[in-house]
Amino acid sequence: MLDFEFCAPTRFVFSRGAQSRAGELVAACGGTHALVVYGGGSAKRSGLLDQVLSSLKQAGVAYETLGGVRPNPRSDLVYAGVELCRRAGIDFVLAIGGGSAIDTAKAIADGALYDGDFWDFFARKAPLERALPHGCVLTIPAAGSEGSASSVITQERGMLKRGLNSELHRPRFAILNPELTFTLPRHQLACGATDMMAHILERYFTNTPDVALTDELAEALLRAIIDAAPRAMENATDYESHATLMWAGMLAHNNSVGVGREQDWASHQIGHELSALYDCAHGESLSVVFPAWMRYVYRHDVARFVRFAVNVWRVPNDPADPDAVARAGIAATRAFFSSLGMPVSFAELGARAEDIPALAAKVVGGATGHFVRLEPPQIEEILRIACADGGGLCPHLSPKS
Ligand code: NZQ
Ligand code: ZN
Repeated sequence: MLDFEFCAPTRFVFSRGAQSRAGELVAACGGTHALVVYGGGSAKRSGLLDQVLSSLKQAGVAYETLGGVRPNPRSDLVYAGVELCRRAGIDFVLAIGGGSAIDTAKAIADGALYDGDFWDFFARKAPLERALPHGCVLTIPAAGSEGSASSVITQERGMLKRGLNSELHRPRFAILNPELTFTLPRHQLACGATDMMAHILERYFTNTPDVALTDELAEALLRAIIDAAPRAMENATDYESHATLMWAGMLAHNNSVGVGREQDWASHQIGHELSALYDCAHGESLSVVFPAWMRYVYRHDVARFVRFAVNVWRVPNDPADPDAVARAGIAATRAFFSSLGMPVSFAELGARAEDIPALAAKVVGGATGHFVRLEPPQIEEILRIACADGGGLCPHLSPKS
């Protein structure tokens, strides 16, 4: 296990009806004038926005509102929010929604106290040193932004989808009421389950030895999501499965299972380029890329993929043929995504093979991944695996030395 520091300062308030405490929680953080950031309409339609606003009013917290955050949130609304914060003297940013609303709130909080362009932080031109305090009311278990140190924004100049990690991005509080997710369309639940599984897998496939404890935690989380996601999709008002997903999504990405180990993140980086080009949901990019990535890299460490197959998918172990066991685990992952109705190939995503070189060339920094380092030619190979429906196994990669 590697050395690490872990600080997860967010106050999680997990209960039915917890949204009525939004005002009290903002006030407890010193907020007197809040900017409430929300999405394209679900929070309005469900009445949640009104409930949160009336809770703010009751607590004596003044507010402004900024709606219209889209999935794969864009820079335009961040600029508008920053401007509003400066003009109105906002001292707290409150998101209602999922990763898109929360990440927009985080980026607004970054920009509000900075004289320049908030994108300087995302473009690594300036270090993020201070930000307004922010919190959230979560409405979709997926991105894990409610407990994570990340914000992911698409800059419209050049359509660059980029993430920024900072401890300043951990929300002061997160209101988690599983009942708020009962209105989710089935496909959004599937996208969310895929994303949280991907957050665990990005950490699970590591070269760091002696990480048995976090391996076990990761496997338990994966099994819980695999069990709960179909049940939540089947029954829109089943509290237990929605509650499991809500907490699993947080645990998947607040780094509890990632500490002390090298993490990969290639599939996310590649997926971001698919989302930027085709504006597909984040989860959709991952259900296409992750199984292809697994096929490409598994021979680097067959034993780890065998462990994954046996402990997560309950594939019977066969010491005589570890390769087959490893492949069965990868096939089970792909089949599970497919069973949720997720796309698992370029064709199902509506992506085009002719875009592959451009997609691979655009990946941040030119190379990505840690489990196996990937340069653009290898990224192209992974995307070609994702193109081949049913997918071939990449014969090129040799085991790690
Ligand atoms: O906009 P509204 O009308 O609210 O509709 C949303 C949106 O269309 C809908 N929705 C959310 N809650 C609902 C609901 N519909 C009905 N009932 C509800 N209760 O769901 C759609 C998706 O919402 P979004 O916020 O985009 O989903 P998600 O949480 O998956 O966030 C995705 C974004 O987060 C980023 C992704 O890249 C993507 O941009 N990520 C953020 C991370 C982080 N900050 O730590 C990490 C992730 O890896 C990810 O990159
Ligand atoms: Zn993700």
